[in-house]
Amino acid sequence: MKNKYLLSLLWVIVSGFGILMAQEIAIIPQPAHLIVKNESFKFGKQLKVCIASYRGDSVTLVFDSFKDDFQKATGIKVTSVRSEAKAGIVLSVNQTLAPEAYKLDVSPKQIRIEAARPAGFYYALQTLKQLISRHVMAGVAVGGRQEWSIPTVEIEDVPRFEWRGFMLDEGRHFFGKDEVKRVIDIMSTYKMNRFHWHLTEDQGWRIEIKKYPKLTEVGAWRNSKVLAYGDVKTDGQRYGGFYTQNDIKEIVAYAKTKFVEIIPEIDIPGHSQAAVAAYPEFLACDPENMHEVWLRQGISTDVINVANPQAMQFARDVIDELIDLFPFRYIHLGGDECPTNKWQKNEECQSLLKEMGSTNFRDLQIYFYKQLKDYMATKPANQQRLVFWNEVLHGNTALLGNDITIMAWIGADAAAQNAAKQGMSTILSPQIPYYINRRQSDLPTEPMSQGHGTETVEAVYNYQPMKGVEADLQPYYSGVQANFWTEWVVDSSVLEYLMLPRLAAVAEAGWTPQEKRDYVSFKERIRKDAVLYDLKGWNYGKHIMK
Ligand code: ACM
Repeated sequence: MKNKYLLSLLWVIVSGFGILMAQEIAIIPQPAHLIVKNESFKFGKQLKVCIASYRGDSVTLVFDSFKDDFQKATGIKVTSVRSEAKAGIVLSVNQTLAPEAYKLDVSPKQIRIEAARPAGFYYALQTLKQLISRHVMAGVAVGGRQEWSIPTVEIEDVPRFEWRGFMLDEGRHFFGKDEVKRVIDIMSTYKMNRFHWHLTEDQGWRIEIKKYPKLTEVGAWRNSKVLAYGDVKTDGQRYGGFYTQNDIKEIVAYAKTKFVEIIPEIDIPGHSQAAVAAYPEFLACDPENMHEVWLRQGISTDVINVANPQAMQFARDVIDELIDLFPFRYIHLGGDECPTNKWQKNEECQSLLKEMGSTNFRDLQIYFYKQLKDYMATKPANQQRLVFWNEVLHGNTALLGNDITIMAWIGADAAAQNAAKQGMSTILSPQIPYYINRRQSDLPTEPMSQGHGTETVEAVYNYQPMKGVEADLQPYYSGVQANFWTEWVVDSSVLEYLMLPRLAAVAEAGWTPQEKRDYVSFKERIRKDAVLYDLKGWNYGKHIMK
């Protein structure tokens, strides 16, 4: 009788402990496979690490950044050992895993990590930080004495999608190098890997191009910080900024340490009034008229004259510099919202269209891209692919071929299917609800931005990428992306407020299998990150953390 009582008490303790562990574990994005066991790994005064050798010591470099944060937060000293048996943590190469996949096995004796590539090790260590403490994630010391332990787990993890992106529009407002690094930090916290950098707009050109200095001397500056809209008037302030090529190199190097690829976007031939203002003599359809960097929100009709050979040469020269600056796989040439009004009135454009045997002025835009795509194919490192917004599908895309990527934003699900049916790869960035510059609640404290507060964390979370898409089209879906437009957003703190925690919701859609996604669980887990956000000084939507 007594023994029976003891046994059931033990069971309650053990199962109770299990529940506690499961609640304590708050990993975002939720791993593909996670088994929580009922024991723990206790860190001692020292942590011994055994790291497999890997090309260029890159796994060691990845571990070093974990080590810094871990040591700072816990005060536990990390030392290297050769023998796996003596190590508290082992990193070993397993070539059978996918490039971003990892295994993380925590037993009472040892933490074992396996991955095929440095990115996999990086993600395993991001998960390990989440298991240990938000202070380790932030690299901030915990005051006082502390015992450090983590629950025993078995994790086998791999992202659902290869592309897990975030786009920042710096054409409308400029945030600068430090903020861009913070954005990359936020992304990499949630294992996001594509930073789409929208660098040019009607309202500002933000990247130094050596061959065309006026792009930044003229195009990076305007006579109002605020962009006029409805009753909102311009303020007459001289406003602007741009990234020098050295700045870009610094940011590229920084992003690489976090396994984030950068996709620069030069939005041409539409959304180009700032460039036209810099070089109206060959970019404007009507050079005789006045052109200035735009001071309003909306879509300017002042687009590049695609029929001018000098404009074509300009675009090729810009691409040359982009290829040198961004050693990644994609370049985005925009393609959204490109009014054809000025082409319709321009004789060069009219006769080019006639020569092409078309009556659809949209085809001039496709013709322009076709020249640029052919040009990129002549480059020695012929590896960069072009990305476009989905309006490009409104022209004769057959001319462009299908080795392009379509970023689907307006009517996104249908546009993505259209692209996939043509054999193009596609990325889902639906305006509703993935434009996370829109208000995230209807609270009176919400900052000025677009929308009515219906793009809540829950709405963003509950969007299901690739829902109902037939199996044969699914391989064309590269992934998901949240976009951030800055017509209304001037300050970094507002940028971060609107990003967080919604970016984490998109990250989970990009990583976690749909059947493992659950908003109630996400809401529980995201609350733990309030500590991280506070430690890092990242602003966020606090209403969701209650
Ligand atoms: C877009 O929202 N214009 C891509």
